[in-house]
Amino acid sequence: MYLSELTLKDFRNYKDVKISFSPQINVLIGENAQGKTNLLEAIYVLAMTRSHRTSNERELLTFKKEQATICGTVERKLGKLKLELMLSKKGKKAKVNHLEQARLSQYIGQMNVILFAPEDLSLVKGAPAVRRKFVNMEFGQIDPHYLHNLSQYRAILKQRNRYLKQLQAGKATDLVLLGVLSDQLAAFGSEIIARRLKFLAKLEKYAQDIQKSITCSKEELTFEYESSIAEVAAKTVDELYGTLRSVLRITTKKKYFKEQLYMVLIAMMSVF
Ligand SMILES: Nc1ncnc2c1ncn2[C@@H]1O[C@H](COP(=O)(O)OP(=O)(O)O)[C@@H](O)[C@H]1O
Ligand SMILES: [Mg+2]
Repeated sequence: MYLSELTLKDFRNYKDVKISFSPQINVLIGENAQGKTNLLEAIYVLAMTRSHRTSNERELLTFKKEQATICGTVERKLGKLKLELMLSKKGKKAKVNHLEQARLSQYIGQMNVILFAPEDLSLVKGAPAVRRKFVNMEFGQIDPHYLHNLSQYRAILKQRNRYLKQLQAGKATDLVLLGVLSDQLAAFGSEIIARRLKFLAKLEKYAQDIQKSITCSKEELTFEYESSIAEVAAKTVDELYGTLRSVLRITTKKKYFKEQLYMVLIAMMSVF
């Protein structure tokens, strides 16, 4: 699979440009601030529907423009694939072979990309959030269910945090609803962790072979997933669900309206 053609309209400093790529290695050479990184970013956005550089998508539109379009032709063994992504202040639209996709999670994964930038060294050196983001981005491309669970998890978490605030302020009293939200959170969270464990086990195998070949088998590389919530290694989805559910219940039982606990629950948000 390779990207044979890329068209950009009003994307960053590209007003209207069409570029053809070779199936081999392509090298971009240019002056400082000429748009090399912008071009790589455009390819990344076309594949992932979001930028690796910014979460503010308005930055991607050329200054003073309302809409940007990125189109690409992907050559695959099974034939050509046309991808089209429209970005505007109102939102995003994605098309595959001219057909609009109802969900972005269905669109992501049509073209697989891996971005390696100097900042990626922070994958090893940096905070856990960097590693989670990496896993979310890479695994999301090959497993739409993973992306679906992740977006559901985030939505429920938001809703639950809002409800905890209401409980705290005395504007709500229904603990059954809190229990339902907690269980849903545990359900999506356990799916996410189980899929991450599966993904990391696969990745470990590839990485081990590479590590062996570059160290003449002198070094053995292993991956371990450490969750800040609970012990997760070698657990099934059901076991993970049980663990997460009880962790959420214990923390909620302890005077759920107390400021301190509220902070703990908010902190859990960063785990995903
Ligand atoms: N939204 C935007 N609209 C127009 N120009 C932009 C936008 N965002 C960045 N630029 C321009 O893009 C250029 C930087 O491009 P970049 O790809 O980072 O350069 P480099 O070739 O050094 O990697 C700057 O000139 C900047 O003004
Ligand atoms: Mg650059």
